[in-house]
Amino acid sequence: MSKVSDIKLKTKQIVKKHKGDKSALIAVLQDIQEALNYLPKEALIAVGDAMGIPASRVYEVATFYNAFSLNPRGEHIVKICVGTACHVRGASAILDKFERTLFIKPGETNQDRKFSLELVNCVGACALGPVVVIDTEYHGQMTMAKVDKIIGKLKEGAQ
Ligand code: FES
Repeated sequence: MSKVSDIKLKTKQIVKKHKGDKSALIAVLQDIQEALNYLPKEALIAVGDAMGIPASRVYEVATFYNAFSLNPRGEHIVKICVGTACHVRGASAILDKFERTLFIKPGETNQDRKFSLELVNCVGACALGPVVVIDTEYHGQMTMAKVDKIIGKLKEGAQ
């Protein structure tokens, strides 16, 4: 979905689902990101219009939280935990391996929009470090071999 009219329609549906409740702004933005994979500028403006909130305030909230992305993201979101426990268990090497395998840096999406790479601080599974969360799936005790295996599987599945 990328046409402006589609984005506006989807946004209106989501705002309606939350009954236009101004206190539900974060939940509205979460639902929009889930539906569109990111928060397009048009959606932020439409949210402001539909909820009676200044667009600048909507933008402020959208940029405050790391969980929100204002740029299109890949089909698969790879989150590398760089919290202390994962760091001491070798998260930097795992990050480096993902960067070299996907040819992207954190905050970037690869050319065919299959993968986006993000950094997170502790996902609450420290005992399993180093941890990587891909989409909603947790992968603990990551190794170089596991990175290749997981990426290979996702690429196969994506074809
Ligand atoms: S530091 Fe990585 S899960 Fe806690």
